[in-house]
Amino acid sequence: GLAKYGFIPGAVMEAVVSTCDEDGRPNAAPMGVTSGDLRTLIIRPYLNTTTYRNLKVSRCAVVNITLDPWLFYITALKEVNPEGVLPLKLFDKAEKVKAPRLKDAQGFIEVNVIDIKEVGKRGIVKCEVVYAKAKRMPARLYCRGAYAAIEAVIHATRVKEALAAGNVEEAMRLEGLIKYYRDLVRRVSRGTTYEAVIEGLLNLIKRWRG
Ligand SMILES: Cc1cc2nc3c(=O)[nH]c(=O)nc-3n(C[C@H](O)[C@H](O)[C@H](O)COP(=O)(O)O)c2cc1C
Repeated sequence: GLAKYGFIPGAVMEAVVSTCDEDGRPNAAPMGVTSGDLRTLIIRPYLNTTTYRNLKVSRCAVVNITLDPWLFYITALKEVNPEGVLPLKLFDKAEKVKAPRLKDAQGFIEVNVIDIKEVGKRGIVKCEVVYAKAKRMPARLYCRGAYAAIEAVIHATRVKEALAAGNVEEAMRLEGLIKYYRDLVRRVSRGTTYEAVIEGLLNLIKRWRG
């Protein structure tokens, strides 16, 4: 089952979900993925995301396994890419589904959508696995900077929402958290792409605020 990819029943696992629209145009975004039974998956995209729209029209996706903060960063916030769109060279054909996969992922879980519900602001998208493959990874040491950078990316996506909703106080609270992670990243991983991710996030937030 899905346990061998690191799924813990009921826990939210973070992946980059790649999808395509009706014309085959690829997209990818970080999404929390859960599995209660270690056979089927649930993705909970906000109704206003391209990911949700694509899941509805093309009924499939690839759940890409990665711990690379840079991939989370460029897929969460498309505007940081040249021309504001993800480069096509990021994507590859999948084995069984028409959604693309991410070339640089460490593993791929290809899924078909079997049920969609809308609850509040989110779609509840139930998926069945049609193909899965993961690289065997050598043992790797833990760097706090990598996880701090990914946490900062998710906070930044929420800053954007908060500002859009006029919730300046929440935006400032989240920016404070990102600055905490920036200080941590600078202490443990100065000069790395982790620091570049956080600097990029703080610059974006400055721009959003105008
Ligand atoms: C680690 C992480 C987890 C996320 N999980 C979700 C999620 O479960 N649902 C969601 O709608 N957005 C989630 N987001 C935010 C989306 O990735 C973000 O809004 C993105 O811009 C959506 O892109 P899209 O419109 O191309 O689908 C997450 C972001 C990060 C960094």
